[in-house]
Amino acid sequence: MLAMSIRITSLLLISLAVVSAFSPADHYLIDCGTTEPTVVDLDHRTFTQDGSSAVLSATKSFGLKNSNPDPSLSPIYHTARVFTKPSDYKFKIKEKGMHLVRIHFHRFGFKNIGGTCHAQFHVSANGYVLLHNFAAPKGNPIIKDFLIWVDDDELVVRFMPADRSSFAFVNAIEVISAPKDLIPDEYVSSDQNDRINIRHAYETMYRINVGGVKVTPFNDSLWRNWIPDDKFLKLSDASLKSYSKIHFDGRIQYHLGGASREVGPDNMYNSARMVSSLNDSIPKLNLTWVFPVEKRFSYLVRLHFCDIASISLGMIYFNVYLNGNLAYQNVDLSTLTDYVLASPFYADFVVDPEKFSDAIRVEIGPSNLSRSHAVDGILNGLEIFKMDNSWRSLNGEVCVDQLESKNRSNGQMSRLLSLTGAVCLLAVAFLVMRRKTEVKDSFGWSRVPVDVSEIDLKSSFPKSNGVEV
Ligand SMILES: *[C@@H]1O[C@H](CO)[C@@H](O)[C@H](O)[C@H]1NC(C)=O
Ligand SMILES: *[C@@H]1O[C@H](CO)[C@@H](O)[C@H](O)[C@H]1NC(C)=O
Ligand SMILES: *[C@@H]1O[C@H](CO)[C@@H](O)[C@H](O)[C@H]1NC(C)=O
Ligand SMILES: *[C@@H]1O[C@H](CO)[C@@H](O)[C@H](O)[C@H]1NC(C)=O
Ligand SMILES: *[C@@H]1O[C@H](CO)[C@@H](O)[C@H](O)[C@H]1NC(C)=O
Repeated sequence: MLAMSIRITSLLLISLAVVSAFSPADHYLIDCGTTEPTVVDLDHRTFTQDGSSAVLSATKSFGLKNSNPDPSLSPIYHTARVFTKPSDYKFKIKEKGMHLVRIHFHRFGFKNIGGTCHAQFHVSANGYVLLHNFAAPKGNPIIKDFLIWVDDDELVVRFMPADRSSFAFVNAIEVISAPKDLIPDEYVSSDQNDRINIRHAYETMYRINVGGVKVTPFNDSLWRNWIPDDKFLKLSDASLKSYSKIHFDGRIQYHLGGASREVGPDNMYNSARMVSSLNDSIPKLNLTWVFPVEKRFSYLVRLHFCDIASISLGMIYFNVYLNGNLAYQNVDLSTLTDYVLASPFYADFVVDPEKFSDAIRVEIGPSNLSRSHAVDGILNGLEIFKMDNSWRSLNGEVCVDQLESKNRSNGQMSRLLSLTGAVCLLAVAFLVMRRKTEVKDSFGWSRVPVDVSEIDLKSSFPKSNGVEV
């Protein structure tokens, strides 16, 4: 019963793969609170200071410097800017569209700032709630990684102390135009009858290099971190040998229509875990990973595949299961990559665990077409993005207007407050209703598991269909 009510929508990707070098139209790297004009981080990137720059518009802010910084930490964490009033960073946007927004937090020695004592705050960006009642703990730096659709000439990242006794802070901000092929404008369901507009906000929850080592921004064309999968892998004790890791020293064959280097770097695609059959029998097991997630959000799950393991083409077939549902049957990497080995491919799925599950379970295992003496399953990388909810929030059931009216309630404009509150409530009601109707309308692709199996990615692979973006 439970499994049946979990909706899994498998969507097809329409990508505009471009094999040219990536040079983002908008590219801001801001080191907050510093007095140095520029600071170079450990990945050789140059960050500029925010003090006298046009991007910062704050009424009450302080630059703080760590007098005793950890030398192993990037210099961008040696300073911070602290706000006791709502404050904005405003970035001029040359090219509308999806933007990477990365916000760095490292809480060093500071405690009480001008009569405030908690570092607890909200962060919004162009109408999306990114962080709600965020309290950065002391310890290692925290990087919050977002993708935000920007439709305006400006991206405004706003820091709002949670209440009068709180302050907000930030160490560094990156705003970078996303490559066109990173997230498609829209997804089309497997039967091509439904579309989902993807102009939203996303937060990266997991970015995993399966079977490999940590990949740092230095080795990633979009300056991302990819972490190893070990702590998410669930090993059943059956035949550990079959879960082998593999590393490939050859060249990753990026090709038009598949994943580009910006979608996934060589260092991620060149390692994997696989299920393989060493003798005449096909192992009866799945590779299984479990990722804890927050309930009441939908997630975009991107699985990265690259056949670095087969010795010849046409040998590898496997199934993909998401939360126990067959999400993609008989994946045939040879066909999907135009018969080239070591050529990367990725598949996106929208998973809606709704109220029932607080984890996403990914399983890769042999299919009916799997062969003996062959590789019967592979996964090279995985990303899970949280999608904004009907409040346009990535964190909590609260909309930006509510957060901002809280600020006003500190002041005198209580009449304005109630008006804003009403507007916000109306918006929420409307959005919830719309969401409900949407669900009704879109039953076509909110299938029960049996139907989910009828996916044929091949038929809508960019080259072979005419669906426009
Ligand atoms: C980048 O990748 C190369 C080759 O995989 C590796 O030797 C090197 O240590 C990596 N550098 C960093 C900074 O991660
Ligand atoms: C094949 O190998 C597996 C272990 O890798 C073993 O459990 C199984 O019995 C073997 N099957 C045959 C037919 O030899
Ligand atoms: C693999 O996982 C799926 C979904 O949970 C399950 O139905 C199937 O029985 C598993 N296969 C094996 C061999 O365990
Ligand atoms: C295998 O094939 C049978 C019959 O065609 C089908 O009912 C079953 O769902 C398939 N199982 C998997 C895991 O692909
Ligand atoms: C918060 O309130 C102050 C006055 O109390 C006002 O100047 C400021 O613009 C408000 N900020 C937001 C984000 O509403």
